[in-house]
Amino acid sequence: MKELLISLLVVAWLCGTAAAAANQAQGNANTKVKKTKTVAIKEEKGVLVLKKTNFDQALRQHKQLLVNFHAPLSGDSQSLSIEFTKAAEQLKAESFKVHLGVIDVSSEKDLAKELNVTGFASLRLYISGDKQNPVICPVVETASSIITWLKRRSGDRAELIKDLAQAESFITVEDVVIVGFYKDLEKVVLFKVSTKSEVYEASSDASKEDLVQFIRVRQMDLVTEYTGMTSAKILSSVITNHLVLFANKSEENFGEDYEVFKNAANAFIGKVLFVLIDTNEHKNGRILEYFQVRAVETPIVRMVNLTDNVQYQMQSEEVTSDKVTAFCQIYLDRKAKPKLQSEPIPKDWDKHPVKELVGSNFEKVSFNEERNVFIMFYSPWSKACRALFELWEKLGKVYEKHESVVIARIDATANDIKILLMQRYPALMFFPSVYSEKAVPYFGDKTIEALVEFVENQVELAKDEKAKEEKERKKYIEAQKEMEKKEKEEL
Ligand SMILES: *[C@@H]1O[C@H](CO)[C@@H](O)[C@H](O)[C@H]1NC(C)=O
Ligand SMILES: *[C@@H]1O[C@H](CO)[C@@H](O)[C@H](O)[C@H]1NC(C)=O
Ligand SMILES: *[C@@H]1O[C@H](CO)[C@@H](O)[C@H](O)[C@H]1NC(C)=O
Repeated sequence: MKELLISLLVVAWLCGTAAAAANQAQGNANTKVKKTKTVAIKEEKGVLVLKKTNFDQALRQHKQLLVNFHAPLSGDSQSLSIEFTKAAEQLKAESFKVHLGVIDVSSEKDLAKELNVTGFASLRLYISGDKQNPVICPVVETASSIITWLKRRSGDRAELIKDLAQAESFITVEDVVIVGFYKDLEKVVLFKVSTKSEVYEASSDASKEDLVQFIRVRQMDLVTEYTGMTSAKILSSVITNHLVLFANKSEENFGEDYEVFKNAANAFIGKVLFVLIDTNEHKNGRILEYFQVRAVETPIVRMVNLTDNVQYQMQSEEVTSDKVTAFCQIYLDRKAKPKLQSEPIPKDWDKHPVKELVGSNFEKVSFNEERNVFIMFYSPWSKACRALFELWEKLGKVYEKHESVVIARIDATANDIKILLMQRYPALMFFPSVYSEKAVPYFGDKTIEALVEFVENQVELAKDEKAKEEKERKKYIEAQKEMEKKEKEEL
């Protein structure tokens, strides 16, 4: 390693979160600013404190001014501001040519409005006093990535590495670092803190696009956990097939499932991006809702095609290496079955003892005033569900000819069902003929006797309720009549 590094000329550049930055606004300084008396602008820890009264002056005085629009109530903005101050202190120590300033958008509302600042936690670089066309800094999270971005913008695009010590310190500077080994460009190595380095062998016809693609793909970890920090990186990835593991990180089996998932990722680098979503993180509530994932069903593995937003469900109870690998391959071969709102209604759905429901006829059948409907919500690949099918068939036969009882089942993984089910599949729910929206869950024994007894009780209850309802209705009607009569008499 040592010889290689010293004998070759080594050029390296950092690859932080800074994207290929926009170079637009540079140079056209055409904003005239009013001449006012200048008082030195207050500075805190190397950061200029900017206000409506001194902003124009700051633009005049500093050819390059990086401004942090700070929102004190936003957590993201708070953490960015800490890093921003760190960056300012370091840049000041280096006498770097860009000055850093902060505007508190909660107290400087007018100025923020004038500058058309809407999003928070944002950094803008004002060049040559041009108020209208600042360069928006891409999303950054650390002091070092702010510095990297600024330095790259101002021309120090790659750092020349001359010896091993410099190389060793350089590759620890960021999570991801790219080093090119030159005589003619022969090799590019991507160093990642979290994993081993990756080598790109540049052939004579390698293009810049190939290299960029290599970096974009390889800079991601094998599995990226979805968080506020990583969501943008995940959604803007060049890889548009995302395999998502929904799992509860606090659960005992999590470690095992995660290892299996991660190991499977190796074979699909560049084709499928592996993502983890923790179902035990309350901040993920909305994304779980979006995917219609129930925390009690985890672990769940789903493929998402980001181009058309179609989802595919891995049909397995366990996360095994074989299952994950096969599922990815089937999907890539375009042979996977997409997840739909509803399966088509089966031709003979109501011809058997157990009625087959799907998304599109579920509500009509279950929320029916005339019928008591007992439904098994199942997952076709769950052993516990399959073990119950025979018993359910028996129950169906018991009530095949009954006037008001319907025994049914629905594949809850292939159909979107708009009711809240708290228990794991198989979930058994009774929808009584009155108030069918008050479904009753069944937790009793899985025997035909116990099930029949439950149904009979529920049917009686429903009858009583119905009779009560009928009585109430009659009473109401009579009261109405009475009133009308009285009114007439009074006339
Ligand atoms: C803010 O937006 C308005 C309307 O688009 C524009 O006229 C104005 O020049 C903008 N101001 C700045 C400072 O960019
Ligand atoms: C995740 O697992 C932990 C430990 O078993 C449990 O306490 C917690 O309720 C689970 N979270 C969810 C959302 O199910
Ligand atoms: C993802 O969706 C796009 C748009 O529908 C389609 O062209 C592409 O083939 C899909 N990818 C896979 C692997 O199915």
